[in-house]
Parts: sequence; C-alpha cells; structure tokens
Amino acid sequence: MFKLGCYGSGNRTKALLDSLNQDGFYKVHAVYDLNIESAEDFAAQYGGTVCKTPEELINTDGIDAFFISLSPFAHAEALRRTIPCGKPIFVEKPVSFSAAEIKELVLLAEKYNTPVQVGFMRRFLPENRAALDFIKENDPGRIFSVDCNWFHHGEEEMNYNLYHHPDNFRLHVSQIPFHCCHMLDILLLMGGNAEKVTSLTTKVVDRPYPSPDDLICNIQFTSGFNGRFHYSSMVYYNEMSYRFHAENYSLKIDAGGGDMFVIHRRPRFKTSRIGSHPELHKASPDFNLTYNQFCAPQKVNFSQWLDWANENIMYEFVQLVRDGKMPESDLRTALRVQGLAEAIEASGKLQKTIELDDEGLPIGIE
Ligand SMILES: NC(=O)c1ccc[n+]([C@@H]2O[C@H](COP(=O)([O-])OP(=O)(O)OC[C@H]3O[C@@H](n4cnc5c(N)ncnc54)[C@H](O)[C@@H]3O)[C@@H](O)[C@H]2O)c1
Repeated sequence: MFKLGCYGSGNRTKALLDSLNQDGFYKVHAVYDLNIESAEDFAAQYGGTVCKTPEELINTDGIDAFFISLSPFAHAEALRRTIPCGKPIFVEKPVSFSAAEIKELVLLAEKYNTPVQVGFMRRFLPENRAALDFIKENDPGRIFSVDCNWFHHGEEEMNYNLYHHPDNFRLHVSQIPFHCCHMLDILLLMGGNAEKVTSLTTKVVDRPYPSPDDLICNIQFTSGFNGRFHYSSMVYYNEMSYRFHAENYSLKIDAGGGDMFVIHRRPRFKTSRIGSHPELHKASPDFNLTYNQFCAPQKVNFSQWLDWANENIMYEFVQLVRDGKMPESDLRTALRVQGLAEAIEASGKLQKTIELDDEGLPIGIE
C-alpha cells in the first residue's frame, strides 16, 4: 500500500480517493491545505498527519507520491515545490493558465525525472474512450474534420457561486482553459497536433465570468484536416458533443438523439453502395436502399458515467506509482491543451489567426 502526500483536501481530492478507497492500493500519509480546518476534517476521515506548511508536507518522511488538487491558480506553485522530490505526482487540471509556465514545469519534471499525471479524466468517460478506441482499431481512411460543442447555461454555476461561494476560483477563470480543457484534450487526441486557430467571439452580458459568452473557432491540424470548437454559455441546455468525419465512417458522440456513441459506416464495396442489381431500381430512394442500410447507425449506450472515469483515472495513478507505468496524459499533454485554449481565446480577442509551435505553444501573443 503506497503512502500519499495530499496537497489540498477539497472535494475533488475526496472524490478521487473515494473511487478506489476499499482496494487497499493507497493510504493518506500526510495532508496540507491552506484551509487548516479542511485539512483537519480530511485527516479525521482519511487519516494522515496534518501539515501546517507546504514545506512540512514535502519534507514528511515516507511519502511515496503526491496528490495535488487545489485552486487551479495554485497548481503550478505546488508542482514547483513537489517535482524536485522525484516522486510520482497526480495533479488536477488545469495545471496553469499559461502554456509558457507549463513548459517550465515540463522542463523541471524532465530535469528531476519526475512523472506527472494530469487529471484529464473525460478521456476516460466510456463513450469518449469507445470513440477513441474505435478510431485506433478501425482505419478511418482520410480524416476530414472533427467538430465539437461545449454548451452550458453558464449563469447557473455563476449564480450558485455568487450566492454561496463568492470567493470561489470558478468565478475568476475562463471556461475555455478551465472546463473545456477536457474537450480540447479529446479534440487533440482525435485530430493530432493543432497548427493554427481562428476564433470569433461574442460577449453580450456583463458578468463576473471572464469567459466569452459564445465562441466559434476553426482549427487547422498539422495532419491537414479541419476542426471546429464551439463554446457557448448562452445556451439553456447542456451539450458536450463531438462529430468525427472521415472517409470510412462518421462518428457522433453525445450529439443529441439520446445516443452516446453512434457509428455510421460508409458502405465498403461497390455492391453495397449501388446494390446487386442497380438496373432494376429506377427511383432514387429505391436505388439507394443498400447504401442506406449499410450506413445506418450502430448505436452504443453506456450506463456508466463520472464514477467510471474517476475510477479509471485513479487506477492509472495506482499503476504509475505501483508499477512505474507512464500515464496517458502528462505535463506535455497539458502544455498542448493549454496552448490551444490560449490560442483560441487570443485569436478571438486579437481578431487574427494564431499559430502554434511544435510543442503546442501559441506564437506571438505575449
Ligand atoms: N477533472 C475533473 O473533472 C475535475 C472535477 C472537479 C474539480 N477539478 C479540479 O480540482 C481542483 C479542486 O477542485 P475542488 O472542487 O476540489 O475545489 P475545492 O474548493 O473543494 O478544493 C480546493 C482546495 O484547495 C485549497 N487551496 C487553494 N489554494 C491553495 C494553496 N495555495 N495551497 C494549499 N491549498 C489550497 C482550498 O483551501 C480547498 O480546500 C480544481 O483545480 C478543479 O479544476 C477537476
């Protein structure tokens, strides 16, 4: 059973620890939180000693790995302190709101040979995982485009925080890097590295949320195909959907109609495209009967949701600490995701196309 040094004792830390807490993989050895009462309550529930400073946490003997989940404004500093210990680290997203700062952390982690797992857990949601696996296992042929929507009624979260937690960091962050980072992570997994972005932004309501109210961004990937990312908080329903269009199939993920993962395949052979006896079918819908039958949707639904993703990302962390298996998403992943988020927002603000370098850093937006 490995011993954790918890840097932060908030809701997310508890949710993730709970996801595998009966399995005996880990136990809390020490905890530090800016809010000492929170750390004490946490230690009463999960065990471990309460540290009064970050230095005390870092210097506690016997810690095998660090677990960092804080206000996102505090993640980078926590990493700067823990990376030199050389022990595996889990850090929640977003690592920082600056891609340049994440680049510094990448170099620091490489210097100390410290593996860092980043909490992009939506790639572990069953429908996203199924789509990513499907693309890996089934040749898409030429990929045309990947398209995604992040729609929510942003007012709801803002109202709640203004009423109950006016100091909550959520009121001070833009949703593009803060929340949509999950979607950008998946977009990059589907599309590969991004080369340039062009955004149009709409801000209509004056409110204490720095996010744009509506943003549409066209993304050009290095592999040559197109992406589109649409964020809106001026929508009165929630949607986090993806559409993947390629030569051999089209995929829809959470794209309405109540189905989580839908596959439409292009009929494979000439016969399935035009039918065995095309000469007999004079009228148009009749002519395309086989085509329509072969591309009709295969629908896959899942009963699992966030608990499933939490368990998966935690088990990945267990494998990192216990077996030395490198995580799927690390600081380099976070660098690309934040670079893309930054470029998307900057393009809207500056009203120009923004290019990204080979590592995913936006160019020329100091
Ligand atoms: N991957 C996901 O799906 C997901 C879901 C929820 C939250 N999160 C992330 O988890 C993080 C924590 O969210 P939460 O909901 O647990 O918030 P929370 O407010 O419940 O907990 C944050 C804790 O960090 C502490 N803290 C803040 N700044 C600190 C500092 N400088 N030093 C030490 N402690 C500090 C606070 O006192 C608080 O106890 C956020 O960054 C959020 O983005 C990720």
